[in-house]
Amino acid sequence: MRILILNGPNLNSLGQREPDIYGYETLDDIEQLLRQRGTDLGGIEIEIDFVQSNHEGKLIDAIHAHRDWDGIIINGAALTHSSTSLADALSSVMLPAIEVHLTNVHTRPETWRHHSFLSPVTWGQVSGFGYRSYLAALDLLYSRIAEEQQA
Ligand code: DQA
Repeated sequence: MRILILNGPNLNSLGQREPDIYGYETLDDIEQLLRQRGTDLGGIEIEIDFVQSNHEGKLIDAIHAHRDWDGIIINGAALTHSSTSLADALSSVMLPAIEVHLTNVHTRPETWRHHSFLSPVTWGQVSGFGYRSYLAALDLLYSRIAEEQQA
């Protein structure tokens, strides 16, 4: 099972970036936790490609390059709230995708964070659980893909 985990702008600064909001874990920490979780899940072996970019086009290219993979976990960061191109890229590959956010974007004071262009083209959203949002998304995607592969 091959899963792309995609991270948008400014997430490379996690750990230093407003840690009271986003937490003290770095993106490397989150990657390690996810890789460990992938191993702990047992069953079907999981291959993870973990990508971060500050550039919209690079994120879109990464989605296209993984079109024959099994699923996507995406934290589009601020592009979540602005990028129709990222939404189109996700729907073009027709893979099950989960949108994740460290913070609960629906309760953030900036109202522009309350709208997501990705939600209509993703299976669901996990928002507000810090690094655990990513782990929950991996569990959910794993169980869906495993069920489909075993059917
Ligand atoms: C974020 C929430 C976005 O609104 C913000 O622009 C981010 C991070 C989150 O993980 O909580 O960069 O996606």
